[in-house]
Amino acid sequence: MKILGIETSCDETAAAVVEDGVSILSNVVVSQIDIFAEYGGVIPEVAARSHLEAMMPVVNKALSDAKCTWDDIDAIAVTYAPGLLGSLLVGTLTARTLAILHNKPLYAVHHLKSHVYANWVNRGNGGTACPSDTLRAAQAKSSRSVEHTVPPFPLLALVVSGGHTQILYMPAHNQFEIIGTTHDDAVGECFDKVAKILGLPYPGGPSIAKAAENGDAKKYKFPHPRVEGLDFSFSGLKTAVLRTVQKELGLPISHPSHDLKNHLSEKQIADFAASFQKTAVDILAEKISMALEQHPDIQSVVVAGGVSANKALREALPEAYFPEPKLSGDNGAMVATAAYYEIQSGVKPTDPYKLNIYPRISIEN
Ligand code: KG4
Ligand code: ZN
Repeated sequence: MKILGIETSCDETAAAVVEDGVSILSNVVVSQIDIFAEYGGVIPEVAARSHLEAMMPVVNKALSDAKCTWDDIDAIAVTYAPGLLGSLLVGTLTARTLAILHNKPLYAVHHLKSHVYANWVNRGNGGTACPSDTLRAAQAKSSRSVEHTVPPFPLLALVVSGGHTQILYMPAHNQFEIIGTTHDDAVGECFDKVAKILGLPYPGGPSIAKAAENGDAKKYKFPHPRVEGLDFSFSGLKTAVLRTVQKELGLPISHPSHDLKNHLSEKQIADFAASFQKTAVDILAEKISMALEQHPDIQSVVVAGGVSANKALREALPEAYFPEPKLSGDNGAMVATAAYYEIQSGVKPTDPYKLNIYPRISIEN
């Protein structure tokens, strides 16, 4: 079964063809990072207009890279929630139109669900598909077979993206219970805001990770937030970094945060990046340990979302499943794979004349 997955929830225009939920036949991602690096963040209306320009060329390239015509495609899957309203509209309207035009069943996929399912891409599903060459090479080097096997249930999914930080309990395919969530900022958002304070380019996650390579992670100490149970809070960590930078520079707390970067040395930026990254990763790892204690039935942990690309996080959770780095961020392959498992779970296609978008809906709905 070949599914065309379409993803436009934020600032990536993406489409992919995935066979049987496992083999990537094509994966096209056009990023708008260059546009938004100039502004230091995403401007929703600009994002929507860029999606509109890129959408059909991206879909056509996904088909031609996969050497598929419309006759070969069995279903279309699209992100319908959550995300930026204008961005979601472009992807869903495109998918609705294509589904009607080519008479294909249409599946509407929640964005966080698709991030979680990035962990099934290329890992096999008991079918006959082969893993990618990258994974073959990785497995040859590794004694562990995590790269090959699918994560066993029940599992915990740590979803860490620009908009969400949640721990999900997943007893079986396509079933999600939120057992921890952030009270304020998402961890990716926190990386982006701290990067701004340090004068590092957007998106902040990769630039903090890069700057941190040359930094001393023990140089600055930031308190862990006191949040009940498995919930998170990241806005205090951002403020703690801000106050420590001001203090380090001998500037008052009234000093504007956008000017601090002009006073920081390369060394200070690297040390702040490394110390912040370590704190953020420690907080995530701590909550996962706590969740595992509370749920002794858990068989595996999967990590998902843009922040799952982070190397320090991968090192802090060596037993966890992570997507291939190129599938950590937004892409169409994970949407197609999520839809495949929806179909396996008996989910019926959605009405292409009626599919709506939901910028804020929860994964439990
Ligand atoms: O999943 P994603 O691509 O989009 C959303 O659904 O939000 O996640 C984007 C977030 C951004 O906050 C970005 O800074 C962060 O993921 N990110 C990272 C890394 N790569 C992307 N954070 C930490 N380390 C990284 N290597
Ligand atoms: Zn995402």
